[in-house]
Amino acid sequence: MTVLQEGERIHLVDRKNRQYALTLKAGDVFQLSGETIAHDLLIGKPDGMLVTLSRGRRLLALRPTLSEYVLKMPRGAQVIYPKDLGVIVQWADIYPGARVFEAGTGSGALTMALLRAVGDRGHIFSYEAREDFAQTAMKNIERYLGPSRNLTVRQKDVYEGIEERELDRLILDLPEPWRVVPHASTALRSGGIYLSYVPTIPQVMQTVEALNRVAVFSMIQTFETLLRTWNIEGRSVRPDHRMVAHSGFLTFARKVDAGFASGGTDLEDSAPHDEDEP
Ligand SMILES: C[S@@+](CC[C@H](N)C(=O)[O-])C[C@H]1O[C@@H](n2cnc3c(N)ncnc32)[C@H](O)[C@@H]1O
Repeated sequence: MTVLQEGERIHLVDRKNRQYALTLKAGDVFQLSGETIAHDLLIGKPDGMLVTLSRGRRLLALRPTLSEYVLKMPRGAQVIYPKDLGVIVQWADIYPGARVFEAGTGSGALTMALLRAVGDRGHIFSYEAREDFAQTAMKNIERYLGPSRNLTVRQKDVYEGIEERELDRLILDLPEPWRVVPHASTALRSGGIYLSYVPTIPQVMQTVEALNRVAVFSMIQTFETLLRTWNIEGRSVRPDHRMVAHSGFLTFARKVDAGFASGGTDLEDSAPHDEDEP
């Protein structure tokens, strides 16, 4: 049985699924609308326990999933939403043992998803221009994942260049990814994958132009993801009224032999044409 430990970040969850984050510390007291509970009553309790506050309100004490954690952790910069984190890991094909480059580190949300996916045999290199953001990210990452020996965070401006070579994957979440594309073209290994995440289409256009210009990228694709949650209560079975309608556009490209014509690929056109398919 895994129990909640001192120093750990946990979430208390009410019946409406509202989550309240706290870091367990012996002697501290958690307060919610005038009700309290001592952290000592939570430390050592099993993950998922029902606990009772001073005036009888009952909450679940849970170790948060990574998605829940990133939405509540302290932020320097805006994080990538969990709906996009999952897609990035799958579409950029982040695999155990991969050498992955990331910029900027921001609050560390993507870094954590990448660390989990590459496992102990892989390595994440992450550049962040701002020292304070890098510090916040390192704290967020260590508090959730513990010390990571396979993470190198550098306080560096990625527009000036990338030190690492033979990278398997390169992921950018910053305002001007097109300025990184020339560096990406030499830092990635052949067959490696480029991905950038930006909120607006003019940024996508400049990025795709830059990818075409360096002439070593192919299979360029851009898409966004929409996640619509549903209300399922008795006969009220319908989409929820609110949703995150926009987060960012994802652009992917594959580094290949120079000379193979680059250009856009429609997702529809790229559906597999498997000649062996029955
Ligand atoms: C939107 S945030 C990244 C959030 C991060 N992906 C996450 O999920 O927590 C963008 C970050 O890029 C950093 N940044 C902007 N320009 C940069 C550059 N030229 N080199 C390195 N980092 C840069 C910013 O300081 C900021 O922290």
